[in-house]
Amino acid sequence: MTNLRLAISEEEIQECVERLARLIQADYKNQPLLVVGALNGSFVFLSDLIRRMNLPIQVDFIRLSSYDAALKSSGDVRLHHGVRTPVVGKNVLVVEDIVDTGLTAQFIRKYFEEEGAATVSICSLLDKPARRLTSVTVEYVGFEVPDQFLVGYGLDYNQQYRELRDIYSIEGVVDSGGRVTEDI
Ligand code: IMP
Ligand code: MG
Repeated sequence: MTNLRLAISEEEIQECVERLARLIQADYKNQPLLVVGALNGSFVFLSDLIRRMNLPIQVDFIRLSSYDAALKSSGDVRLHHGVRTPVVGKNVLVVEDIVDTGLTAQFIRKYFEEEGAATVSICSLLDKPARRLTSVTVEYVGFEVPDQFLVGYGLDYNQQYRELRDIYSIEGVVDSGGRVTEDI
């Protein structure tokens, strides 16, 4: 049996999203911004965040895979779909659900730099620094979290629990049979 334990409440999440939206808005003033969500985990956070920002924005998504073993990030990040919106000369804000090893964030930053973005910033709701394998910079962080596997508010375990309004730590997951195929 899996057990969910409340880690971050809906109210705390919403306060945090408001804070991040205000910070981003202040930094970009009225400049156009291309907001790019990393699928799948970021879609709930992104939809709340953009509705709290008063900026001229475009929205697009990229799809990567980095998570092919249960509860572990592999070092192998692959791009499945890039953005369709032109990137050259744009300010790009990448929205992530969680930065864990940092390999995905590092890959995405390099991708947009190579695509010719004027600036690239990363906004992640959650940051798990204990497992970091890179020195990638994350400009906007919602919550720093301990080394636990978290679900809800877009984050999944085996594609489940994304719809939950709060964030929970998940316990008692069985690795075999419980392979996380997130983002593919
Ligand atoms: P990375 O290890 O920083 O490259 O993170 C890769 C991806 O793994 C993140 O974007 C998440 O989608 C996923 N991930 C990492 N930690 C968790 C977690 O605790 N719960 C759910 N997904 C996670
Ligand atoms: Mg993700």
